[in-house]
Amino acid sequence: MSKKIIAGNWKQNGTLKSSISLTKKVLQAVKKKKYTHEIIIIPPSIFLLPIKDLIHKSQIKLGAQNVSAFNDGAYTGEISGSMLKDSGVDYCLVGHSERRHIIKEDESDFSSKVSRLIDNDIKVIYCFGETLNDYKNKKTKLIIKRQLKKLFFNNKNSLKKHPSKLILAYEPVWAIGTGLIPSPEELVSTFKYIKNTVNKFDKKYASIQILYGGSVTPDNASSLMDTEHIDGLLIGGASLIAKKFIDICSTI
Ligand code: 13P
Repeated sequence: MSKKIIAGNWKQNGTLKSSISLTKKVLQAVKKKKYTHEIIIIPPSIFLLPIKDLIHKSQIKLGAQNVSAFNDGAYTGEISGSMLKDSGVDYCLVGHSERRHIIKEDESDFSSKVSRLIDNDIKVIYCFGETLNDYKNKKTKLIIKRQLKKLFFNNKNSLKKHPSKLILAYEPVWAIGTGLIPSPEELVSTFKYIKNTVNKFDKKYASIQILYGGSVTPDNASSLMDTEHIDGLLIGGASLIAKKFIDICSTI
């Protein structure tokens, strides 16, 4: 069985100095406690290399927040999958709500990115979830199905060959950075729905892990993790504060 996952998405925050200090604190905690789950930190791309040097040979894995949709070539400002691999990146986010709604990326961007990552043997953490409007209009499951259908249809060949290269992260847009989270009943029902939907696409997908993200704190982490089919947490704000992130890692 795969390990549970705790991932910290630092987004576009911090300085080199604060990122190194945060990493060192997490590293210290990991060395002391030897967690049985997978711990992933996802810093801004410019800090990936110095952080890789710090966590080298430790239990902490490195994630990137973004990848180019293209292979190496004339794409000014982009960072390719092979460059991420070369820099020691193990995981990469795709489809995060901030990239969907602020940067205006779409499913065709995501599908190219998923391919580039799988080609370079980097695990994809694919984020999806409904907006507040969708939630209020009781369209959560409809939106989830639509987003998952596009992911699994557009990347059918590579995902069928490498299902273990995909991790799903359900992040309701209205729960990100707001302090709001779905009720326990909603979480049970939504995660069951995600699991069933994915299994219906193909039996090969049965072991794909599903994370929850959106306003995770040390106070709600353990009850979230107790929810059936939640295999881990994708943490934003709380992952920027060493004590909070370590507390979350320690409570599960
Ligand atoms: P918060 O934990 O700050 O709500 O962010 C969640 C998130 O977007 C992780 O990718």
